[in-house]
Amino acid sequence: MSRYQEVQAELESNPKIWLVTGVAGFIGSNLLEALLNLGQVVVGIDNFETGYQHNLDQVSQRVSSERWARFRFVNADIRDLNACRDVVDGVDFVLHQAALGSVPRSLENPAGTNSTNIDGFLNVLIASRDAGVKRFIYAASSSTYGDHPGLPKVEAQIGRPLSPYAVTKYVNELYAEVFSRCYGIQTTGLRYFNVFGPRQDPDGAYAAVIPRWFASLLRGEKVYINGDGETSRDFCFVANAVQANILAAVTEQDDRKAQVYNVAVGHRTTLNQLFEHIRDLVSLSHPSLANVKPEYRSFRAGDVRHSLADISKISSSLGYVPTHSIEKGLKEAASFYLSLESGNG
Ligand SMILES: NC(=O)c1ccc[n+]([C@@H]2O[C@H](COP(=O)([O-])OP(=O)(O)OC[C@H]3O[C@@H](n4cnc5c(N)ncnc54)[C@H](O)[C@@H]3O)[C@@H](O)[C@H]2O)c1
Repeated sequence: MSRYQEVQAELESNPKIWLVTGVAGFIGSNLLEALLNLGQVVVGIDNFETGYQHNLDQVSQRVSSERWARFRFVNADIRDLNACRDVVDGVDFVLHQAALGSVPRSLENPAGTNSTNIDGFLNVLIASRDAGVKRFIYAASSSTYGDHPGLPKVEAQIGRPLSPYAVTKYVNELYAEVFSRCYGIQTTGLRYFNVFGPRQDPDGAYAAVIPRWFASLLRGEKVYINGDGETSRDFCFVANAVQANILAAVTEQDDRKAQVYNVAVGHRTTLNQLFEHIRDLVSLSHPSLANVKPEYRSFRAGDVRHSLADISKISSSLGYVPTHSIEKGLKEAASFYLSLESGNG
């Protein structure tokens, strides 16, 4: 039995109370579904800035009504400290996901990204400290590696940030560390590397590459690759990120030191390879797309060239073992985007 299976069995027999911020978003709604399926009690907060009611509706359709009744949703903004205090009251573990993602968004509106990702983060952290939660887990980011040239990325070696978004995610780590040191709250940052999977938004100017490419192919639109396509990423299926959150929350290590872990698979895929995987999956049901070629355009500002995680720290400390390779994850993502096309999403 894996550590994750053990932890899931323990949680099922001894349910906890969880706060998921950004619960109507992509990763937040996947956390919600996994926790409700384990019989947990969940409080969620979201202001629908980039999340959707339909994400919550989908979770409600996928869990039993008895489990759905264990979820309380609050439509509020994490920049409101009183709202944060309300949702964190009585909670064991906080999984803080609410933020404005996307490097390009932060380049266009650095103040907006700053206010949610730093002011909002600080509110959730202060409310968690005051409520005496057992552990505060938060969505950090691989963007914190910035211009550090080393590959694979190891937690202790970071470079200079390359975007306002990266600054906010690094500031989160600094605050979490200082709060651990000064107030004794246990904090864990999960540096996600390009997470993808069901319910990731395919639309809008700031959509991530995998959902955008699925949607573009299925709509008969052009697929653009920024740069020469040899840019690479450690794409991580969302179930792996869910596993990391749950393991980080219930770890038996009782240290007061802030922790930060990479969350990824430890495998690098170029954009050219990714395009071929996605096109091949989509053309199984749409054979006319089998020979579609991408269109290349200029590199995007603020992007790092290569990204690959060393996952030995999270594996040895928390017993994390990714359940999904990129290939397995893309198959699940494909069935999700195909189901949207046929109106069953
Ligand atoms: N998806 C990735 O590849 C990735 C990579 C690294 C880090 N992250 C981080 O993971 C977290 C979740 O990302 P995601 O991909 O699920 O994005 P998402 O946009 O789908 O989810 C974010 C959620 O936060 C909510 N939100 C935003 N501002 C808020 C506010 N002021 N008050 C309340 N709710 C607010 C949004 O409405 C949305 O539902 C973010 O912190 C993001 O920075 C994601």
